[in-house]
Amino acid sequence: MTTAGLLVLDLVVAIAAAGSWTAAAVVAWPLVSERSARGALVASVLSAAGVVATVGHLALVGMLATRGWWFAQDQLALGAPLLAVAAIAAVVGAAPSLTRMLRGRGTALPRRVPVLLLAAGVAGGVCVVSRMGIGYPLDPVPAIVLLVLAALLTGTIAAVRWAARSRVIAAWSGIAAIVLVTSVGLGYLGSLTAAPMLQGGHAHGGQATAVGAGPVDLVSVADLRTSDSVDAPVRSFTLIASAATVELASGATVEAFSYDGTLPGPELRVTEGDLVDVTLVNDDIADGVTVHWHGVDLPNAEDGVAGVTQDAVRPGDSFHYRFVAEDPGTYWYHTHQASSDGVQRGLYGTLVVVPAAGIAEQLDLVVPMHTFDGRSVFGDSDIPSAQAVEPGTTVRLRIIDTDQAPLTVQLDPVAFRVVAVDGRELVGGPSIEQRSVRLPAGGRVDLAFTMPDTPVTVTRDGLADVSLTLSPDGAVASAAVTAEPELDLLAYDATSATTAPAATRHLSAEMVLDRLPRALNGLPAYGYTVNGEVAPHIPEIVVEPGDALTLTVVNRGWETHPMHIHGHHVRVISRDGVAATAQLWLDTFDVQPGEVWVVELYADNPGVWMDHCHNLDHAAAGMMMALSYRGVVSPFELGGTAGNRPE
Ligand code: C2O
Ligand code: CU
Repeated sequence: MTTAGLLVLDLVVAIAAAGSWTAAAVVAWPLVSERSARGALVASVLSAAGVVATVGHLALVGMLATRGWWFAQDQLALGAPLLAVAAIAAVVGAAPSLTRMLRGRGTALPRRVPVLLLAAGVAGGVCVVSRMGIGYPLDPVPAIVLLVLAALLTGTIAAVRWAARSRVIAAWSGIAAIVLVTSVGLGYLGSLTAAPMLQGGHAHGGQATAVGAGPVDLVSVADLRTSDSVDAPVRSFTLIASAATVELASGATVEAFSYDGTLPGPELRVTEGDLVDVTLVNDDIADGVTVHWHGVDLPNAEDGVAGVTQDAVRPGDSFHYRFVAEDPGTYWYHTHQASSDGVQRGLYGTLVVVPAAGIAEQLDLVVPMHTFDGRSVFGDSDIPSAQAVEPGTTVRLRIIDTDQAPLTVQLDPVAFRVVAVDGRELVGGPSIEQRSVRLPAGGRVDLAFTMPDTPVTVTRDGLADVSLTLSPDGAVASAAVTAEPELDLLAYDATSATTAPAATRHLSAEMVLDRLPRALNGLPAYGYTVNGEVAPHIPEIVVEPGDALTLTVVNRGWETHPMHIHGHHVRVISRDGVAATAQLWLDTFDVQPGEVWVVELYADNPGVWMDHCHNLDHAAAGMMMALSYRGVVSPFELGGTAGNRPE
């Protein structure tokens, strides 16, 4: 069974345990004053169900532990032992008297019986609440609060049912209320205090902190710009961000935000070694705008993240980006201010860095795939489109997922090779056919093939509503599409020319992804969390130049998280313990429910860098954090007069 399946099953079983024991207590309670063989039978059956669910939960937690400590810690350290003890106490305490009553013998039940059954039910509740509310890592403070509340709840209910004097009840429930209000209140106040994250320079935050390292000179992010004295051919562009009503090929209109009135923004095509010089002007985007160069490992202050590397560009203002296009490949650009809204509405475009020596293929096409108001769009077309290509032409298709969710792309019917992923060439990969290729949100793949005599059709997600046909006569092919099995890129037999730099020190850090109730911007929310926290409270990871950082990324939730690392490409080591046989350098990778990815990051680009989920709605709901170089500090802040809001 998959880890994700085990997690769901275990949750269901824990809820069943809590429910069965509680129901047994409810049925057993009247038997304290009145004998009933029928009541005893029902209570016994419910208790037996409680025993089965408890044993099932313990077994599932054991199985989850073999998949990784992250999946089982909350249960192993808190819920499971508590439930086991409570269940044993309930069985030992309740079985003899229930059995006597079943046989029509004995008197009414002792009062301890329903209380013990109730305690087992509450213990089951602790299992559920710790999984759904505390998560990983198991923070001791909420764990203790939860235990105290569980004890008080059991005590209060027992007191009420025994018709204890009202002062006793009031005391018990008063204590429970005080514990609850204090812990929630303190947690809430903590969430309001000035957040360290995204500012950088906090040498004590994060797990990869440079322990024992000496003093370091502070460097401002704002100073980490491309030098004025770079001597390279200059390619200048201007991007004017504005709101625009854009008509798609089908005639449908989109109330868009765009970089030059078109969807997507202009394709920027430069040559390796060029100095890319871009002036961003915000015409009328009220929320503000920036340009982030997704996948380009450039100087930190050119990275375009509002509140971290610059202030959001307000309407009427402009900003100037300069960077040398050092790494050939397929990239894209998009706003990093209020991006969950802005990117979906169209503030994105493509960037291609052509190698100085050119590419091997004769035809080079860029196909960004996006969705507007539920309509799939390839490039700028939301209907099947076509392009004439001579048979025998070698073609490179640069596919980009600019959506919030993963997609699979298909190329039919033709044999093709994957020649690059995330702007890094793959060397010597085999030719494949009838395989779909999965892209995470934000990811890119370059596919190469030789044009056959017959049409080749590009589709996404096995659907035919939008497609791109390359055909000798330029006509749209309308063949039926069937979804093909996914190629596993980690097992694609290809090497890479990219080499790992030498490291002077090895560090490791974890990012455990989940969904938990947390205070987000001062309001209660069902947040997307990393290591149990939402932004800006997720401790940053701190590195120094020359570090090799082994990053373990774990998904405890049930949604896919396309994790994006700014300023660096990471080398994929393994997924779910299986070593990658392909040499993959990625800036975005999909961590699916239950998956464990291990990647290696080489710290060679000082700055304060965002790491976040590229489902930008998830990022906006908490799933973003920083990777900072020790001593680098950001003068920019979240919120503030510029209204900085990276997602
Ligand atoms: Cu494409 Cu931080 O994003
Ligand atoms: Cu996500």
